[in-house]
Amino acid sequence: MSAIDISRFFANADGHAISHAFPSRRAVMPWRDREPVAQHDIPATWSRLISHPGAPRKRLAYIHVPFCANHCLFCAFYRNAHSPANAQVYADHIVTEIEREADEPGIRHHPIEAVYLGGGTPSALSTWDLTHILDTVRRRLPLAPDCEITLEGRIIHFDDDKIDACIAAGVNRISVGVQTFDTEVRRRQGRRASKDDAIRFLSGIRDRNRVALVIDLLYGLPGQTPEVWREDLRIAADLAPDGVDLYGLNLIPGTPLHRAVAAGKLSATTLQHLGAMYETGVAFLGDIGWRQISNSHWARTARERNRYNLCIKQGADCLAYGSGAGGSIGNHSYTVAGELQHYEAGIAAGCKPLDGMSISDDLAAARHYVTAGFEVGQLDLDGLPLPHVSDPKALFAPLLDQWQHAGVVSLNGDIAQLTTAGRFWYGNLIAAFNDIITATAPSRISRCDIAPPLPYHKAKAGRMS
Ligand SMILES: C[S@@+](CC[C@H](N)C(=O)[O-])C[C@H]1O[C@@H](n2cnc3c(N)ncnc32)[C@H](O)[C@@H]1O
Ligand code: SF4
Repeated sequence: MSAIDISRFFANADGHAISHAFPSRRAVMPWRDREPVAQHDIPATWSRLISHPGAPRKRLAYIHVPFCANHCLFCAFYRNAHSPANAQVYADHIVTEIEREADEPGIRHHPIEAVYLGGGTPSALSTWDLTHILDTVRRRLPLAPDCEITLEGRIIHFDDDKIDACIAAGVNRISVGVQTFDTEVRRRQGRRASKDDAIRFLSGIRDRNRVALVIDLLYGLPGQTPEVWREDLRIAADLAPDGVDLYGLNLIPGTPLHRAVAAGKLSATTLQHLGAMYETGVAFLGDIGWRQISNSHWARTARERNRYNLCIKQGADCLAYGSGAGGSIGNHSYTVAGELQHYEAGIAAGCKPLDGMSISDDLAAARHYVTAGFEVGQLDLDGLPLPHVSDPKALFAPLLDQWQHAGVVSLNGDIAQLTTAGRFWYGNLIAAFNDIITATAPSRISRCDIAPPLPYHKAKAGRMS
């Protein structure tokens, strides 16, 4: 094990944890600590992965729809402008991709607990295309009887007929990106619907009373004052959806917003304000009795399970379909071609067009354990799977003591509970733990976990993860 100076992960203990615990917020980077599969080995490795049932693990499916009506200023997910013709061709390719793999042992053997149609903007697809995809998913993938099926959408181009058809085709959860209800703040970011449009639209889904309705809100948008934010929370609560996500705005290089801020045309929110807005959100939703089920997610009703998001953090397998989708099977992770033309040419040619594939090291289970625990606000050190470390609790004890002193965790025996400040800075806490876990590695990658040639796999059924 290489020596690691844990003091570099200490939090600022000046008594203002929510605003100053760390100099900047760190992102959780699940692709770190993985070894790439050589490009020329990817097709054969993929064939091996899906031709073998592999070990039973929690399983999800993700379908990516990389089209948007416009590029919202703050967003780094934008890829392609939506056009009905492009979208229809794309939907057909998704159906082909699902159909083609569906009978493979590596696909059909394990029940899928949650399906997520994300984007981009899945609701931008036509009613026919969406139901075609959904029918294919339900007919061809081994969905668990209580499978959560989420459709991500925004208000424009999501009409009543489309909503009803998607529900009839199996969608049981709709996640709507609202970001803010304030018409002026919305429009400045490229969101065309007004506050009244948004309220009418969301009320319509809620009143159907047939799906879990989840609202995404962003805090930290230019012009979103503390008063606007409180009003956003109030309107969201009055709408009585099943759940709400509160996301702190990341100012991401390459986005139009980043360029506008760099050019002095718009001003960015400080971390101090961002932390204060998170605190406001936590207090507001706590006061009205909503359950905080992750650092950024609250449920009002039992209908909201948030299963896909929670299972992803736990390291569940995820079958990925569509241009730009990312997935994983056992210790292999992969990304489907992000370039639309590359994706479509690959599907038309009968291949799985993959941009990349990587293999996680032996410590992935420990990293997932930490990520999943901190994601829901508490980490039980007792279960930390680090068999090669003689005393994992002792390894982390000085750091956790310091974090308790700084106000980002509170310790209760072996359980580290995140404070509200800790929840705001959770990416930093996960990154620190993961860096320390990586430093304990006896070797970076255990070669026996790298997919061996086919005959070996057949002899060792179920050893792929
Ligand atoms: C992948 S986006 C797709 C949502 C959908 N297309 C829409 O426009 O509402 C999912 C969510 O990511 C969040 N998001 C997007 N850009 C973000 C950013 N820069 N920082 C934090 N959250 C962001 C938004 O809240 C958004 O609803
Ligand atoms: S917020 Fe949604 S619609 Fe806007 S660019 Fe991002 S993914 Fe597209």
